[in-house]
Amino acid sequence: FETNYDDCWLRYERVDDDELRTSYRQRLSHAYVSEGAPELGAVRAELGRGFEGLLGREPHLWQHPPRSIERFLVIGHPEEMRPISETIDPDEIWTLAEDGYVIRTVEWEEHECTVVTAPSDRGLVYGTFHLLRLLALGEPIDDLDIVEEPANNSRILNHWDNPFRRSVERGYAGQSIFDWERLPDLRERYVDYARLLASLGINGIVPNNVNTGIPSRPTANDAVAERAGWQLLESENLEKVEALASVFRRYGIRTYLSVNYAAPIRLGGLETADPLDPEVQQWWQDKADEVYDVIPDFGGFLVKADSEGQPGPYDYDRSHAEGANVLAEALEPHGGRVWWRAFVYSEHDDRAVQAYETFEPIDGEFHENVTVQIKNGPIDFQQREPISTLFGAMPETDLGCELQLTGEYTGQGVHATYHVPMWKEILEFDTYADGEGTPVKDVLADREGQGIAGVGIVGEDPNWTGNYLLQSNLYGFGRLCWDPDLTAEEITDEWVRQTFGHDETVVETVSDMLLESWDACIDYHTGGLGLMHMMYNGEAALENHYDPAPEEWPEYVGATGDGIGVDRTSSGSGYAAQYRAPLTDLYDDPETCPEELLLFFHHLPWEYELPDGTTVVQRLYDNCFDGVEAVRELRARWNGLEGRVDDRRYRHVAERFDEHVVQAERWRDALCAYFYDHSTVADENGRVPR
Ligand code: GCU
Repeated sequence: FETNYDDCWLRYERVDDDELRTSYRQRLSHAYVSEGAPELGAVRAELGRGFEGLLGREPHLWQHPPRSIERFLVIGHPEEMRPISETIDPDEIWTLAEDGYVIRTVEWEEHECTVVTAPSDRGLVYGTFHLLRLLALGEPIDDLDIVEEPANNSRILNHWDNPFRRSVERGYAGQSIFDWERLPDLRERYVDYARLLASLGINGIVPNNVNTGIPSRPTANDAVAERAGWQLLESENLEKVEALASVFRRYGIRTYLSVNYAAPIRLGGLETADPLDPEVQQWWQDKADEVYDVIPDFGGFLVKADSEGQPGPYDYDRSHAEGANVLAEALEPHGGRVWWRAFVYSEHDDRAVQAYETFEPIDGEFHENVTVQIKNGPIDFQQREPISTLFGAMPETDLGCELQLTGEYTGQGVHATYHVPMWKEILEFDTYADGEGTPVKDVLADREGQGIAGVGIVGEDPNWTGNYLLQSNLYGFGRLCWDPDLTAEEITDEWVRQTFGHDETVVETVSDMLLESWDACIDYHTGGLGLMHMMYNGEAALENHYDPAPEEWPEYVGATGDGIGVDRTSSGSGYAAQYRAPLTDLYDDPETCPEELLLFFHHLPWEYELPDGTTVVQRLYDNCFDGVEAVRELRARWNGLEGRVDDRRYRHVAERFDEHVVQAERWRDALCAYFYDHSTVADENGRVPR
């Protein structure tokens, strides 16, 4: 990038292997690229940048197939492009998923051509980025035959950015990159952000926070009342949204908005937002018409309703299906979709059971263009949670999975916690929804109206993500949305090579570090047996979540004099019973419940014996100490890379690791003291002060 922020995995550093570089140059220096759609402008621009960096020269662009050149690159749709139409059966392309593409080496007359073709303009963008990735990874391109289709139809980023205030809820990388005061004036950074996203195949973006303001009932939390995201639906602001959308559109990304359920009152001056009121219905229809007049490819609405002070259909004694459907009807004629969040909880004894109790009974009642967006676990993006029971419980409803990229509970912008191994665990989890072998990833990939949404992470920081290494979470998220079958190892290797180059010591060290970081994070934040939610909450209720404060949340931890953990079995809060039968049985019995979730499902005596003979309390101590050791080890390994990674990035990450160690120790000490206070059982190794 020309500007003063990092170019992440799109560094496009010169290919230093002579043989490879020569082969790339021979095959790609001359290119014939289709014209017309704005996306093709993006394709050309990216080829220019990419080849300039990787090969030291921009491609020579032709207006027709260059017959005088032996080998060349062709990018375009089937039928309309000569070498493609004569070498590839158009049916093969037209029958691909809309976002799919083919990259193939073909012989045409006397020529050898590298072809990128797709059924949509967006597919051509993805195919181009894929080709560039091959070069950055140093892959041979002499005989390509790549056919790609995304597993998930929707691959959306949910920003929790507060418009006009440039803050980001749970953002740890500086202020928002979106400058709503100055929009419709555009920033170069929007283009570069769109490039980063398109290089991963992300196809949707919600630029504003799900907390859109105007609580329908009084709240002690002023921060909620101040938020102004609802204002983006105001007529005078739609032009700003369209300006942003015009940048993302070129990269195949549709823009959505978080909307406030009480918008008919606040914006429309109506007395109610009751979804069954005809005036309310009309208001949403008129608003949708207006939005689509300004933004023809608008994606739809994301809604947080009846949760944490946000208004919703419960205010009118209506169900969430009734609530969502009124918006769905308004969007339907325009091809838009409602993403309706299942993140609801209120005065329930066990918050874990709430989402299922709210949504499972209304499976089948949502309109076709509603997707129920479910957080991966039943609590709230904790270090590790069991997988939400809803993924196996709503066969008649389109479902989306919400993952958190930003490290709200995993060390924020300081700790280098890589989420990809966690996300793999979530996506591979067998829901038994359709018998054994129905992992979450298949539940999601099954239908068109479904997909994956990722919360936040980027901000105005020059490195985009706070801790430089956390760029890997944005990368990994996008790659997994596209192809959840990729392994964590494959994704990590790709990211490290494109980010730090091909020095094998660096590649191996950084990859291993990332892959091990999540386990460490769980150990020092929780003790590793399924406890969670032991963080400090801050005064404004939305502020902290970084520091340890286990005593603040007794109901989540369940520590008493005689034991620890929360009974969520079928005979306890009933959460385990919300799973399909084999899983209920598995979790209900402490003997079969996986150790890493044991205390999430069971309240057990402090000296309950684990299979290897260690007691629960001793295991908690040990894991906390192991977690800190693991972080020290990560730091040592990073420090060993001094001189192999450029100084600026080396020092930035090294400083973060110094702080990471300090914070991990604080968590360990706070948790161990807490466990000791309640259990009065001494650590066998004498490390925990009595
Ligand atoms: C968490 C988070 C909030 C956020 C909420 C949500 O509770 O701390 O900041 O608003 O999740 O997902 O809506």
